[in-house]
Amino acid sequence: MSNDSYSGRGNKDASLGKNPTKAVGGTIETQKTKHAPTKGAPDEPYLIGDAMSGGYGQGPDILHDCTIAVNKGEIAVIVGPNGAGKSTAMKAVFGMLNVRQGAVRLNGEDITSLTPQARVAKGMAFVPQTSNIFTSMTVEENLEMGAFLRRDDIQKTIQQVYELFPILGDKRLQPAGELSGGQRQQVAVGRALMTQPQVLMLDEPTAGVSPIVMDELFDRIIEVARTGISILMVEQNARQALEIADKGYVLVQGANRFTDTGQALLHDPEVRKSFLGG
Ligand SMILES: Nc1ncnc2c1ncn2[C@@H]1O[C@H](COP(=O)(O)OP(=O)(O)O)[C@@H](O)[C@H]1O
Ligand SMILES: [Mg+2]
Repeated sequence: MSNDSYSGRGNKDASLGKNPTKAVGGTIETQKTKHAPTKGAPDEPYLIGDAMSGGYGQGPDILHDCTIAVNKGEIAVIVGPNGAGKSTAMKAVFGMLNVRQGAVRLNGEDITSLTPQARVAKGMAFVPQTSNIFTSMTVEENLEMGAFLRRDDIQKTIQQVYELFPILGDKRLQPAGELSGGQRQQVAVGRALMTQPQVLMLDEPTAGVSPIVMDELFDRIIEVARTGISILMVEQNARQALEIADKGYVLVQGANRFTDTGQALLHDPEVRKSFLGG
């Protein structure tokens, strides 16, 4: 999808992102899975969860040979019915799930056995579907918490978050729990940006917000992608999300059902009938 209106992404200044940092305080590897590191093809996406199978604890596989990927500075969107495994796929990519088969690679490096903390140090940030802010802390304290891995000056990044979401600057001394749903989601996204990630993963960032607030959030997400940050996002508002997606994934029962550009999926009669309400 190189001829769409968002094709100017993935270049210019990467003011919110930076090169991946070295792990602060060392990386911790999980011991549970014996895993032979895989090497990605030279032209593979910046982040890929490649043919992942796995489930929770000792439970059955929820994901079946599931592949999710995003290119540098692009927006990839995962849609699908409730319980399809969208959140599970995000957790697998972020290291919160036992990936029994398959691999996760970031910039060609196999990170399948890294903890979530180690992935943050490598440039990944994740905003989970629920409990993604500290409600009793102020907006600014939430942003400071987001920068826990950093040892450098975080004030500039805080200012950049306030430029992206001006309302957060206005409310920076208010407890985050007093904010509206849409504003809380801005806090969650802003907190994730505080680590200056290369990849921003969002699980239903527009859950429970009005259509106007949703449009507004999507505009900000496009803005973030334009700085070169890759966005991997789960969305219930499938139609609107695919509109801004470079790549779309339709998941059903833990497996890939359709994968294509956002535009192609929007125009696919089968996808429309089954997943976009006609
Ligand atoms: N923490 C968990 N432990 C065990 N099973 C879970 C857990 N979270 C989700 N599941 C199961 O995994 C499946 C996929 O759930 P989920 O990834 O949350 O779907 P989606 O995000 O697409 O709605 C469901 O059958 C759900 O019951
Ligand atoms: Mg979910």
